[in-house]
Amino acid sequence: MRLLTTAALALAFTAPAIAAPPAKPARLGLCAACHGETGQARIPGAPNLAGQKPDYLREALRQYRDGRRDIPVMRAAVGPLSDAELDQLAEYFSAQTPSKGAQ
Ligand code: HEC
Repeated sequence: MRLLTTAALALAFTAPAIAAPPAKPARLGLCAACHGETGQARIPGAPNLAGQKPDYLREALRQYRDGRRDIPVMRAAVGPLSDAELDQLAEYFSAQTPSKGAQ
C-alpha cells in the first residue's frame, strides 16, 4: 500500500515534467504522414517543419487555408482547421528539434 502510494506520487510529480514541451496537438495525425510526428518530412517534396519560426509556420498555414498558397494537398489538410488549431500545430512543430544534416 505504502509502495503504491509512493509510486502514484512519483508519477504525479514526473508527468508534468514530461509534458513540458508543447503537447501533441489533437490534429497532428493529419500532418504526420507527410511532415513526420516531429517535423522531419517523410515523403519527398514535403518540407521539414522542425525548428521553423512559429510566426512563419502560422502564416504559411493561413496562406494554404485561404488559397494564397495554392497547394491542394496542404489546402485539404488545413482547410477544416480553426485558427487555434493552426496555432497549436505551428507552436508544436516549431518546438521540435531539427535533425542534423536535414535538407
Ligand atoms: C499529403 C501530404 C501533406 C500533408 C498531409 C500535410 N502537408 Fe504540409 N506540406 C506538404 C507539401 C508537399 C508542402 C510543400 C508545399 C509548397 O510547395 O508550398 C507542405 C508545406 C507545409 C508548410 C510550409 C512550410 C514552409 O517551409 O513554407 C507547412 C507549415 C505545413 N506544410 C504544415 C502542415 C500541417 C500543420 C499539416 C497538418 C494539418 C500538413 N502540413 C499536412 C505536404 C503535406
